[in-house]
Amino acid sequence: MRLIIRDNAESASSYVADYIVNRIISFSPTQDRPFVLGLPTGSSPLNVYKSLVEKYKAGLVSFEHVITFNMDEYISLPPTHPQSYHAYMHKNFFSQINISPHNINLFNGLAPDLAAECSRYESKIAAAGGIDLFLAGLGEDGHLAFNEPGSSLASRTRVVTLAEDTILANSRFFDGDTNQVPRKALTVGVKTVMDAKEVLMIALGARKARALQKCVEEGVSCMWTGSALQMHERAIVICDEEAAGELRWKTVKYFKSIEDHELDHDYGVDQSIPAGNSLGASQTNLKTSAGPLTPESTPKATATHASSSPISPLVETAPILMKTIVDPPQSSVYTALEKEILAQPVPKSHGLLGLLGASTYPPPIKSSTHNSRGRSQSDGHASDGDSEAESEDIDLQPDRMASRLSDPAFAAEALRRLTPNPEERRR
Ligand code: GLP
Repeated sequence: MRLIIRDNAESASSYVADYIVNRIISFSPTQDRPFVLGLPTGSSPLNVYKSLVEKYKAGLVSFEHVITFNMDEYISLPPTHPQSYHAYMHKNFFSQINISPHNINLFNGLAPDLAAECSRYESKIAAAGGIDLFLAGLGEDGHLAFNEPGSSLASRTRVVTLAEDTILANSRFFDGDTNQVPRKALTVGVKTVMDAKEVLMIALGARKARALQKCVEEGVSCMWTGSALQMHERAIVICDEEAAGELRWKTVKYFKSIEDHELDHDYGVDQSIPAGNSLGASQTNLKTSAGPLTPESTPKATATHASSSPISPLVETAPILMKTIVDPPQSSVYTALEKEILAQPVPKSHGLLGLLGASTYPPPIKSSTHNSRGRSQSDGHASDGDSEAESEDIDLQPDRMASRLSDPAFAAEALRRLTPNPEERRR
């Protein structure tokens, strides 16, 4: 599993939209060989849909040969109900793109035989050749689709009873009235999602921080069904900083370092996203694949990379390498809290950054001063015994997550050790 952390919901959503568009384009779907896309509802994917619509309208992607399967639907809501997932999908996505109505698959929450409806759905996914890319959201209780805590990780499409937490969370779409939220739903199973060739999961906002921490850092568990993605060969979790708020420093640092490593070296990445998230043909460097993504198709490009990298195991399992250059560089301005942290005495060394391989990554720096863009400038004094010169072509800044460290000594060192910002454009 790979974790992509972006500054805000907008950047995270752009990443997801670009990823989906890249996948569709590189797949080159045709009528006989359509691209099969699994889709979620909820507030988290809204900006993704908006961005996909914009890209379609700009002529950058076509959904003509895309088949979609939605993850879930409330039982008992008619498709015309504004809070049905039918209505949501038509309003936010389908009505604004060139998808054929025949290619849209949603559950019938009014089906007289719900068990038969579930079998029909699974069979239709199989008949379509399986799902190429499943986009998922994450519930506050860690649910994937409507697979509530306690759902079997081997579950398939079925009828479920919604958990109280979900009813409460989703009541915001029903005038805040929990009594209006249906108690039951149809959902694809955890295994249905896991069978997809690739899975993206988007988690935005502080409301998701606890669930994300459970799903990313703790064990695979039926009590946090999103954690099943740890077992998927090609899963990427995309979150904003707020959703990352409960993750350990070590986790954040590590996943950020992978992105920087990819930006820093061209190991023959198979896709790159041009600056500004535009996917204009002239700017897009795509390798087209002759067929659906297979385990063989993308990792080859990373094999050389992996063998020489200190972080190779994860890079090797990364589903795809993308050069995502998004926001303009932000100036590094210390907050009052950060200044207070920086005033603390600097420890000689400590275990945390040692565990992160700080002697090799981030690029060893000498004690430094920062200019307004956060780029460090050496004053010639080696820090903690590091002797290599800093890399001049990486944008560095004090890590914004540092202020979340409760140990002031750790935080001070973290702030002093500038960290590359993967969202910054390399110069
Ligand atoms: C609902 C959906 C899920 C979705 C979740 C998150 O429960 N059934 O598929 O992932 O909401 O929603 P939001 O993004 O609004 O928090």
